[in-house]
Amino acid sequence: MCGIVGYVGFRNATDVLLEGLRRLEYRGYDSAGVAVKVNGHLEVVKKAGKLSVLADTLQTQHLSGSLGVGHTRWATHGAPTDPNAHPHTTEDGKLAVIHNGIIENYLSLKEGLLRRGHVFTSETDSEVLAHLIEEKYQGNLEEAVRAALQEAYGAYGLVVAHQNSEEIVVARTVSPLVIGIGEGENFVASDVPALLPYTRRVIFLHDGDMAVITREGVRVTDLAGNRVERGVVEVDWSLEASEKGGYPHYMLKEIYEQPWVLENTLGGRLREEEAGVELGLRLDPAAFDKVHIVACGTAYYAGWVGKYLLEALARIPVEVDVASEYRYRNPVVDGKTLAIAISQSGETIDTLEAVRQAKRGGASTLGVINAKGSSITRETDDTLYIHAGPEIGVASTKAYTAMLGAMALIAVWMGRARGTLSQAEARSFLAELRKLPRLVERALEMRPAVAHVAEKYHQAVDYLFLGRHIQAPTAYEGALKLKEISYIHAEAYPAGEMKHGPIALIDERLPVVVLATESPLYEKTVSNIQEVRARGGRVIAVATEGDQEIRKFAQDVLYVPKTSPLLAPVVSAVPLQLLAYETAVLLGRDVDQPRNLAKSVTVE
Ligand code: AGP
Repeated sequence: MCGIVGYVGFRNATDVLLEGLRRLEYRGYDSAGVAVKVNGHLEVVKKAGKLSVLADTLQTQHLSGSLGVGHTRWATHGAPTDPNAHPHTTEDGKLAVIHNGIIENYLSLKEGLLRRGHVFTSETDSEVLAHLIEEKYQGNLEEAVRAALQEAYGAYGLVVAHQNSEEIVVARTVSPLVIGIGEGENFVASDVPALLPYTRRVIFLHDGDMAVITREGVRVTDLAGNRVERGVVEVDWSLEASEKGGYPHYMLKEIYEQPWVLENTLGGRLREEEAGVELGLRLDPAAFDKVHIVACGTAYYAGWVGKYLLEALARIPVEVDVASEYRYRNPVVDGKTLAIAISQSGETIDTLEAVRQAKRGGASTLGVINAKGSSITRETDDTLYIHAGPEIGVASTKAYTAMLGAMALIAVWMGRARGTLSQAEARSFLAELRKLPRLVERALEMRPAVAHVAEKYHQAVDYLFLGRHIQAPTAYEGALKLKEISYIHAEAYPAGEMKHGPIALIDERLPVVVLATESPLYEKTVSNIQEVRARGGRVIAVATEGDQEIRKFAQDVLYVPKTSPLLAPVVSAVPLQLLAYETAVLLGRDVDQPRNLAKSVTVE
């Protein structure tokens, strides 16, 4: 996620901005920039690359003023280049805008602004806001921002400065903003760490809040202009804790970011009124007769879920393979094959080589990727970014559920193009997708129940995870999460496989996690649970809220919200992530950097 810092007061704004941006570097970025008011004019310096590149430039190009805004950008729309870096300014350089998030309707807004003569210098959605606010500006910056936000919608953490005013105007919807309260100075940032060198008194803005910040004070309103009271909070976080947003580990922070991430992954791409999705891809979804999915680890399990989604909604044959196998098995590929490569880092060497293998066979290639501009995105014909923001914890969590969301979007995209998904079916599925962020938020409320299960079983030496159909990959992902951070041996099987061997493992020492959410195979899954119980196994069921029947068969039940069986893997991932996390903490493991593992396997 990008970093934002704004300052107005008595200090040298450039120093405050650079120091604040340095404290937000952990969030990951690929360009940086500042705008400082110098002798009544806004001066802007912005550079692709690390903060040190910007700092070096500012060594020679001094900006000396007491009001300024700064940004570190993690590219979403537009490659990491100087022009695409923030702040974005208007042609006359009088107004500077910094924006975190995604403006969903930026293309239509940009068309209008271009028609009205505005000149754009970047490929970003954010620049639209600078020109829109400029159009509305008639001397009152707050009113101009308010008017512009009536037309632009999506996710934003927005910070605006104008050379004619001594204030900074900010607005927040989805992307976090926090205000720092000083003496004769005030601050704004995307996260607490940037404020800690100067103040611990903060105001966390809520969705729909705006604020006007001057050196004398802060005034918070809603988007309609009504005054809003937001209490000042004294944060006592250490700097190290604050970089994790107050969470003890990046992994837990990222688990809790999932509702917000899914908003970003899905938000601007759902088109209920057209009964479809807008993915901005150049590929023709009707041009293929088979799909190959290649990935590693957690991304592979996301691809396996994707197989069920594509075969259900697009009725297209799908093969899923771990990339390290795909690249050596001489797969049968031709010009009507779509090879989908899924990767959080976009740097996994096996997945990159698998893409090359598919291309050698004449396939078209599509990346489902988190890291903008990464190696795989430079080799696939097209890329669907999952917009999960930088994932710091080695164990992948928010990227996984974002990948599932992306695979659901691709299934609709192909199903509608191939005529296998009717308008009514599409609208019904899109309605379920639209609910997902809130359902994941509800699933997170299960944490106390999960912690209780972790407490009961954290001394186990083996775990077994079982699931059927689209919940089989969920079982495998749950086993991977547990084993990679707690070091407990955990394995997974399709539940129907029990009789073919794994049932020999069952005894009273073995916790068995069973995905038993509502589905056409629920009864079959319950009979698997009974087989386990009959042999003394300890069953932990993941079930749909309201299912009381399951309590007859499972010692422990972890409930998740009701959703389409095709989307159950998204909400079911949450208790499994939390089970792994709580168990690893109880065992004193290094949760964010588990032994032997790297965040991205870029070497063979
Ligand atoms: C997931 O928790 C693991 N860290 C690992 O399996 C990971 O998913 C795999 O290495 C693939 O990484 P990628 O998504 O960056 O390609």
